[in-house]
Amino acid sequence: MSTLSERSPSGPASPLRPLDAEAVRAAYARWAKVYDAAFGLVSAPARRRAVFAINALPDGRVLEVGVGTGLSLPLYRRGLRVTGIDLSPEMLARARAKVAREGLEHVEALLEMDAEAMAFADHSFDSAVAMFVASVVPNPRRMLAEMRRVVRRGGTLLFVNHFVADRGFRLAVERAAAPFSRALGWHPDFALDSLLTPAERGEAEITPCPPGGLFSLVRLRNA
Ligand SMILES: C[S@@+](CC[C@H](N)C(=O)[O-])C[C@H]1O[C@@H](n2cnc3c(N)ncnc32)[C@H](O)[C@@H]1O
Repeated sequence: MSTLSERSPSGPASPLRPLDAEAVRAAYARWAKVYDAAFGLVSAPARRRAVFAINALPDGRVLEVGVGTGLSLPLYRRGLRVTGIDLSPEMLARARAKVAREGLEHVEALLEMDAEAMAFADHSFDSAVAMFVASVVPNPRRMLAEMRRVVRRGGTLLFVNHFVADRGFRLAVERAAAPFSRALGWHPDFALDSLLTPAERGEAEITPCPPGGLFSLVRLRNA
């Protein structure tokens, strides 16, 4: 499969290395302390939309992939049982502190685990959601395949992410930021077709989210 940089609309294949697990851990060890202050506000409306979509589902087990500092965890309704996984021990430590501080009993587990190689049995969850993670993992389609494997048939898969613009000023900014992916900890020029095949794209429900459509909510049925 092509790397992100090859699939990006920013032109020919870039010589930059895609993010790997080591780069992700290093980036989020740095981000952990300031993540909520730096990204909490701008990402809140899109995060809320994803969690509200999950909250509208019947009671069941939810997997949150790349749970980070756990900004979403207080938003889930209490009939759901939530498991979060993340690659970064520093981000998970913040999420665990939040769960303890706020008494979030609906959170069943927070585990250090790779989204591309999960330790869960097949069909363990009713839904899975990955917020602002697809543009971080080395191989987003492998993450999606793992999410499909661990969610029951007919279950719900959700993604919230920033996807590269197809034209205009935003595209210029995203192209200019692309060389800094490793330091940033995500790919500013991440394209939707790095995550979804054309067939999946045809089936997905894609909704622009605030601020100003900067993020999108992508919903798939685990057929
Ligand atoms: C931009 S943060 C998003 C955090 C959270 N989902 C939110 O909405 O704020 C990306 C998170 O994905 C995690 N991550 C990146 N690659 C991962 C992987 N392969 N497996 C699990 N978590 C991963 C990072 O450690 C980081 O916590």
